[in-house]
Amino acid sequence: MRLWLLPVLACALAQAGAPARAADAPPGASSCTGCHARTTIADSVIPRIAGRKADVIATAMVAYRSGAWPSSVMGRIAKGFDDRQTAAIAAWFAVQPE
Ligand code: HEC
Repeated sequence: MRLWLLPVLACALAQAGAPARAADAPPGASSCTGCHARTTIADSVIPRIAGRKADVIATAMVAYRSGAWPSSVMGRIAKGFDDRQTAAIAAWFAVQPE
């Protein structure tokens, strides 16, 4: 194995573990938090998803993507992420404080 690969692999392995901190947010997660903020926004119609079960979030994303769930914006947003990216983002939201 080439030595320069080691830090790359270490990084990849670290990311495979439970991402618990904001700094560990997977690619794409920051595009969600603009709307799904961590703090409660008074009078917001946007549901809070931090702390939700990962499979609930991922299932919703798949339903939005296919159009099975009607939405104003989520259908278009969900189309921008494949299953792997969606799963990583969902896992990250699940461990964020509610
Ligand atoms: C432009 C604002 C916006 C962005 C960005 C956004 N959302 Fe949403 N999200 C909404 C709105 C509004 C709804 C309610 C459904 C609708 O009208 O589209 C929603 C609904 C949801 C729901 C369903 C929650 C429920 O209780 O039914 C999930 C899960 C979700 N979003 C996940 C995500 C994820 C993951 C991302 C990032 C990839 C994301 N959202 C990015 C605005 C946004």
